Amino acid sequence: MCGIVGYIGHRDAFPIVIKGLQRLEYRGYDSAGIALFDGNNINLSKTKGKVEDLKDKSKEISLAGTLGIGHTRWATHGVPNDVNSHPHYSNSGDLVIIHNGIIENYESIKKALQNRDYTFKSDTDTEVLVNLIEEVQKTEGVKLGKAVQIALNQVVGAYAIAVFDKKKPDEIVVAKLGSPLAIGVGEDEFFIASDASPFIEFTNNAIYLEDEEMAIVRLGKEIKLRKIKNDAVAYPNILELQMNLEEIEKGGYDHFMLKEIYEQPRAIMDTYRGRLLADQGIIRMAGIDQNIEKFVNANRIIIVACGTSWHAGLVAEYIFEDLARIPVEVEYASEFRYRNPVITDKDVLIAISQSGETADTLAAIKLAKEKGAFVFGVCNVVGSSIARESDAGAYTHAGPEIGVASTKAFTTQITVLTLIALKLAKEKGEFSGSKFHEYLTELETIPAKVEKALKSNDLVETVAEVYKDSTNCLYLGRGYNFPVALEGALKLKEISYIHAEGYPAAEMKHGPIALIDEQMPVFVIATKKGHYEKVVSNIQEIKSRKGKIIAIVTEGDVQVKELADHVIEIPETLESLTPLLTTIPLQLLSYHIAVMRNCNVDQPRNLAKSVTVE
Ligand code: AGP
Repeated sequence: MCGIVGYIGHRDAFPIVIKGLQRLEYRGYDSAGIALFDGNNINLSKTKGKVEDLKDKSKEISLAGTLGIGHTRWATHGVPNDVNSHPHYSNSGDLVIIHNGIIENYESIKKALQNRDYTFKSDTDTEVLVNLIEEVQKTEGVKLGKAVQIALNQVVGAYAIAVFDKKKPDEIVVAKLGSPLAIGVGEDEFFIASDASPFIEFTNNAIYLEDEEMAIVRLGKEIKLRKIKNDAVAYPNILELQMNLEEIEKGGYDHFMLKEIYEQPRAIMDTYRGRLLADQGIIRMAGIDQNIEKFVNANRIIIVACGTSWHAGLVAEYIFEDLARIPVEVEYASEFRYRNPVITDKDVLIAISQSGETADTLAAIKLAKEKGAFVFGVCNVVGSSIARESDAGAYTHAGPEIGVASTKAFTTQITVLTLIALKLAKEKGEFSGSKFHEYLTELETIPAKVEKALKSNDLVETVAEVYKDSTNCLYLGRGYNFPVALEGALKLKEISYIHAEGYPAAEMKHGPIALIDEQMPVFVIATKKGHYEKVVSNIQEIKSRKGKIIAIVTEGDVQVKELADHVIEIPETLESLTPLLTTIPLQLLSYHIAVMRNCNVDQPRNLAKSVTVE
């Protein structure tokens, strides 16, 4: 996610855009930039770092002008540095653009433009887009709005863009597909932003563009909306916003954690976007493609991580061994780095980290590299220490995760790891073409199935009400869902401060069943695929000892419904993909219990979002 802000009107644009960017820093904060039009020239300043750093750097340019656009970046293509920061000029210097999203086919467009003598300063997809728009303007002899409409019909991906042409400085052209864009409608002034937080103090009249809509925002004129596909006229729906600033930053949710739980369908889609090409029957991942021999010929894959990322690694162990038939071991990074492990140059080490800054994971990578292993990073923060230390990698595209409790990081990590396992399974011939295609098409249905799993929220809230005062809880799962049981227990522990333990369901008879009584809620993942009958037996053992059973089941389940005190249904999917769904009700459960216990959900006591110390 990035943050975009624009202003055109009667006030100085600089203070409005800068303050708007500060309001949007929660959306991305690795670099920032601003472009102002002073009546003759575009004055542009941009820098790696925070908006505060941009404010300092902007002292080097003229800050005059009532037209301006600004951007705070969450890098997806190109590491965070000055040159990759937005805004980006077109080659002529007449156009300047800001963009939130991902243009998947930017490389082919870039090559075509280079063949027409366009040059590029940055590694970004955005600089390609602004030059495509310029090329259309020139070759078609059209104004900016029409050029944007034609150009966007040539791109594949997601975008919220704002672009202006210094030859026509009374308008800003905006367009939206997949990333949010709001227009604030004031008295002879307009605001553009990723959400209403930058302009809510000036106006609460807002137009939220729909997907595949664009608008020409021109001073003194009514907003003209168009459909990007066919240039048809669309009619703006001006809303009178009732939200306050804090509610807007959280997207109307009470906490960032809940917002991020609900962002998971989009985050998973963004993570496989451009990589999962089911209709072509391929998975495209440059970091794997360029190192495929290392993976296929590896003695083993060692996965190192901490916390929730370690749980994602455990899920990956099941997937890699089950599908790709490659030996995997999963290690707590903090243990691995000190136990003098045996590592050879035939090992591949996968480091999983949302922040990309976890000290133990970073140290584990360095140890493995010293001993000759190939290191592959799975991070959510582009240009983070772990990403830079790795030999290759694949980013999750979850967007910034603000809540300390990882949610969308977990499901997007599993998404990346599943793509890798499927790719290696195919490469090793472990999969028939039809089975591979079955997985690809099923993976494409996961965002919608997560959306459906989220609909259990109200039911989960009623369950939370029953168990919010528990002092201990057990979480049980088998196979692919054993790591999800561990993750569910961690979620509850870290935000509600209730002690909880996750176990393989079969382990109950080796001790934990002694804990069962009427005071012990047991959350059991009992989905159809995954040793169902054995889990049912475990449930019966618990029930016969008066334990309380809350079961996560596949929709339509009958047998467990007869046994459990509560059942929460999730859609059916392939066994190896169930963790992407079974984790959803457990995330919601921990969230609601923590809220009912008046805990600080987004910043739980004693915890930090990124553990950069040992
Ligand atoms: C999970 O909810 C916690 N916030 C914590 O366990 C976290 O997963 C762990 O610290 C690892 O962080 P990383 O993914 O940024 O490396």
